[in-house]
Amino acid sequence: MKAAPFYVFGNWKANKTVQEAAIWCQDLFIFTKKRPLPTNISTVLCPSFIHLTTVASFITLYRLPLKLGVQDLSSFSNGAYTGHTTAPMLKGLVNFAIIGHSERRKYDAETEVALFDKIARCREAGIEPVYCIQDADMEIPANCDFVAYEPVWAIGTGKAETPENADAVAKKIQERANRKITVIYGGSVTPENVASYTKMPHLRGVLPGGASLKPDSFAQLILNAR
Ligand code: PGA
Repeated sequence: MKAAPFYVFGNWKANKTVQEAAIWCQDLFIFTKKRPLPTNISTVLCPSFIHLTTVASFITLYRLPLKLGVQDLSSFSNGAYTGHTTAPMLKGLVNFAIIGHSERRKYDAETEVALFDKIARCREAGIEPVYCIQDADMEIPANCDFVAYEPVWAIGTGKAETPENADAVAKKIQERANRKITVIYGGSVTPENVASYTKMPHLRGVLPGGASLKPDSFAQLILNAR
């Protein structure tokens, strides 16, 4: 049986102009010409909505080994929802959607009801939701098979959760759900510490934010994850 892939999700958050996004893609291409990225890592880049089509074009042009994800999407389907980006609009463009990141819960007051609606919209559009939880006891929606454990204190602080603790949380999530759940870890993951998470038996990926912004460090992180 083929081993399940290890996932690296890069979360650009609210960063980059369109031109900077294009340069990032070109620099990643130059890096990968010298050092091809491992095929056993499934890499998903999650830029802002405004960069999706630019990055998608570069993925095709340069055959970059990347899939696309979004950092959020609307809890509504298509319709009169000014300013929203909906799952049906994103269908065919992205494979994954991060749902319930702690920054959205904090700055956009996202409630569990809205988040569970977003997961339903993802499911309808064939987009895989990656549901973020901030501690092991939070409810995991029944229709979600992908969970990111992201303790708030570890995000952007340089103080990563230990691989052992992250693995114990992943194990607890899987036992509690009593079904197959892919658990990834996010919070100050770097090229230097990524290998310690790869080794853990219950973790299937990582979600770096800051370390995804520079193409060289992101590529190095992917190389070190193998
Ligand atoms: P960080 O962000 O890697 O910059 O800590 C991770 C995240 O918010 O997903």
